[in-house]
Amino acid sequence: EDTPLLAGKTVTITAGPTREALDPVRFISNHSSGKMGFSLARAAKALGANVNLISGPVNLTTPSEVNRFDVESAQQMHDAAMELAVNSDVFIGCAAVADYKATTTANNKIKKQGDTMTIELSKNPDIIASVAALKANRPFTVGFAAETNDVANYAKGKLKNKNLDMICANDVSDSSIGFNSENNAMTLFWPEGERHLSLQSKQQISHLILKEIASKLAAKK
Ligand code: PMT
Repeated sequence: EDTPLLAGKTVTITAGPTREALDPVRFISNHSSGKMGFSLARAAKALGANVNLISGPVNLTTPSEVNRFDVESAQQMHDAAMELAVNSDVFIGCAAVADYKATTTANNKIKKQGDTMTIELSKNPDIIASVAALKANRPFTVGFAAETNDVANYAKGKLKNKNLDMICANDVSDSSIGFNSENNAMTLFWPEGERHLSLQSKQQISHLILKEIASKLAAKK
């Protein structure tokens, strides 16, 4: 049994991909399976937290005693996140949120046209940056950084620009870790330090992440 380091705390986690509709039958998405986010939810529950899991479309069973909120688009994930974040002690953005959506969604199936076709995209809201920018009831805010190159520098940039308390940087150019794999390896960065977490299952690495968060939360008081 784990020591209930997060007893009495509410942890809200986003997981999986988002889907940005082009028309009633097509969408833009990515390869996130939700495994990392669902593992984090199980780890938070094991440490005694009340856990909210906001999930994009995934094929995973809801971890027991976790409150699951299903969404599709980045905008829907944003709205659910903003509602739950203000009542959370910790917010972890593990979802692979689409940075852009189609500027217009067609009501009917788009017909085959000429040899080329252009789809205009518009920026989605940045969920983790919106949570971190809360003036009242701001939770301890943890982001992820999925990078294929220059991992540490891009991750540190996101930590600073999005005003996060911690960021979990994974190298998604390596297909044995990151998207849709069973394992992961990462470096955690926070304003004053960093910690490397070696290659292990997403479940094991999630326990280390949640324990690190719990100790940072305890140190803040
Ligand atoms: O789901 P799995 O198959 O298990 O794979 C896990 C994972 C690789 C998806 C996960 O470990 C991971 O890295 N998640 C973050 C993916 C991502 O979108 O990273 P990013 O570097 O593009 O985004 C940085 C941070 O901003 C993330 O916390 C992201 O959730 C957040 N973000 C991004 C865009 C946006 N519009 N809103 C956001 O909140």
